[in-house]
Amino acid sequence: MTDPFVETRNLTKTFYEESRGEVRAVDSVDLTCRSGEILGLLGANGAGKTTTLRMLSTVLRPTSGEAWVMGHEVRKDPERVRENLGFYSASTALYPKITARETLRFFAQVNRFPRERIEARIEELIDRFGIGDFANSRVEKLSSGMKQKVSIARTVAHDPPVLIFDEPTVALDVLNAIELRQIIGRLRDEGKAILFSTHIMSEAEQLCDRIAIIHQGRILAVGTLDELRKSTGHHYLEEIFVHFARVRDPSEAEVESLRRDRP
Ligand SMILES: Nc1ncnc2c1ncn2[C@@H]1O[C@H](COP(=O)(O)OP(=O)(O)OP(=O)(O)O)[C@@H](O)[C@H]1O
Ligand SMILES: [Mg+2]
Repeated sequence: MTDPFVETRNLTKTFYEESRGEVRAVDSVDLTCRSGEILGLLGANGAGKTTTLRMLSTVLRPTSGEAWVMGHEVRKDPERVRENLGFYSASTALYPKITARETLRFFAQVNRFPRERIEARIEELIDRFGIGDFANSRVEKLSSGMKQKVSIARTVAHDPPVLIFDEPTVALDVLNAIELRQIIGRLRDEGKAILFSTHIMSEAEQLCDRIAIIHQGRILAVGTLDELRKSTGHHYLEEIFVHFARVRDPSEAEVESLRRDRP
């Protein structure tokens, strides 16, 4: 089997806050994600999803442990990591004063897409994401649905093999959320490795090839929906999630017995 596009080993992030003391936001996380796979990070508020994904995208420095994107380690080679991934979240910012087309050109350049192919790439993105009618409008004049299209196009502008979507559908209406899930599914079919975080059970069920249940910074289980069903005896993901999350303050042995990362 080919090497995973994304791999983490003992990835850990500790924050220190006066009021709460030491917060282990992400605790010894081991994950893999391969080409053509959507790995869902499913967890409640504060579970550690965003912190995990921000370490992978080099925005946050891990406290300990390692993470690789296309074989490049996030601390040792952050620039190579950034060239190989696109990061999208509902709060992904766009520059209001430039046009949609300029936005795509800017992000393709910053992420070092080959210069001679940039203009052709921009036209391809405009066509593919239905941006044609407003490609030359300034971003500040676009509706939120249009901005969403530009944001996704900007995320994939440099055609990276790895894509990270952090709760991308939270701010979207139903139709836009469906469209976004379809886009993510197509990117998977093209061979991208996709990490996708959500707290919405049905979304994880529909979209993800494997699901990692994250709770209080720890991965409690990883598997296909069928594997998770078999290991818990529950059918619905909500019941499966509760089954794992109920194990409060699990001992090392319990965590080990629950952890099932099957590439
Ligand atoms: N910069 C920070 N300083 C201190 N604590 C932080 C910081 N960022 C995150 N945390 C804490 O780390 C834990 C995990 O937060 P994180 O944002 O990763 O969770 P999440 O799973 O993305 O939650 P949500 O579903 O609400 O987005 C929480 O306890 C949070 O308060
Ligand atoms: Mg989050």
